Amino acid sequence: YRNLRVALLGAGSVGSQVAKLLLEHGDELAARVGASLEIVGIAVRDETATRDVDLPRHLYTTDAESLILGADIVVELMGGVEPARSYVLLALNSGADVITANKALLATHGPELFDAAEQVGAQLYYEAAVAGAIPIIRPLRDSLAGDRVNRILGIVNGTTNFILDRMDVDGDTLEDALATATELGYAEADPTADIGGYDAAQKAAILASLAFHTTVPIESVYREGITSVNRAQVEAARANGSVIKLLAICERIVHPVTGVEGVSARVYPALISRTHPLAAVHGAHNAVFVQAAAAGDLMFYGAGAGGVETASAVLGDLVSAARRHVVGGPGVAESTHAQLPVLDIGQVITRY
Ligand code: HSE
Repeated sequence: YRNLRVALLGAGSVGSQVAKLLLEHGDELAARVGASLEIVGIAVRDETATRDVDLPRHLYTTDAESLILGADIVVELMGGVEPARSYVLLALNSGADVITANKALLATHGPELFDAAEQVGAQLYYEAAVAGAIPIIRPLRDSLAGDRVNRILGIVNGTTNFILDRMDVDGDTLEDALATATELGYAEADPTADIGGYDAAQKAAILASLAFHTTVPIESVYREGITSVNRAQVEAARANGSVIKLLAICERIVHPVTGVEGVSARVYPALISRTHPLAAVHGAHNAVFVQAAAAGDLMFYGAGAGGVETASAVLGDLVSAARRHVVGGPGVAESTHAQLPVLDIGQVITRY
């Protein structure tokens, strides 16, 4: 096997799970890729900090620059714009592929990063930046690239969906529900990002840019959070056969006054019918409902937040990036590896 050097930046809830899964399942992934994935280090602010996940201490370093310059693939999971932006640019300029889950960075500096990657023929992967574990970046970028997306309706913030769901189903107040969401670890470090709709707006900018093959700057996303939603409105929606959800709405529109055709991205608490599939998205789950000209309606559903869930999307990107480094592609390596047997157990009907 060829050895690929992987540098991790950040050991928070996602970063530590990525490291843990990679250390545990490295052999399986290596067989899938045709190269081994070696974690060469994890850049952190404080090497001595106590962490939830126990990882080999020698991996921690505060020297992010040296780590980046010695890596084939850099995984940025620090969050925030700086120093993440400088590190990602350093990695791309050195020719490394980069994987990031950083929605704030992509929503504010996406074009700069994609240009840097293009200059050196490197790739920037970001499946984990929108809707956690849910595969939505590749479907929009690849599977639907031959179609024409007309509209996206997304529940892309787990914290606010959890809060609105609690208010609707359990009769909680917004404050109580937010306290629970924070306890469960769904909320951002500053929950204003969640309840103010900023997190959802960043994700809307990323989704709209991809879906409509354009650049939607974060400043042009209309944004309203859920802070003014009260129990009376939730009850009124229910009486009306609807439910209030914080939606990221990205669509092709014709401007009502100028007649110009373009794209609109908006985030606000919206009423949706209780019969719409998005109404069945409970708790901190996310879903992205896509309407495409030829494909029709599609829905992508799952965990939109959480360390290990989001780590799944990061590892998928890692496998993609690694496969790009391996001549001959994945099939070659897999056929040389022991495969799982197919078992025949006759007809078994199970109710799931
Ligand atoms: N705070 C975010 C959420 C985490 O609640 O969805 C995932 O981006």
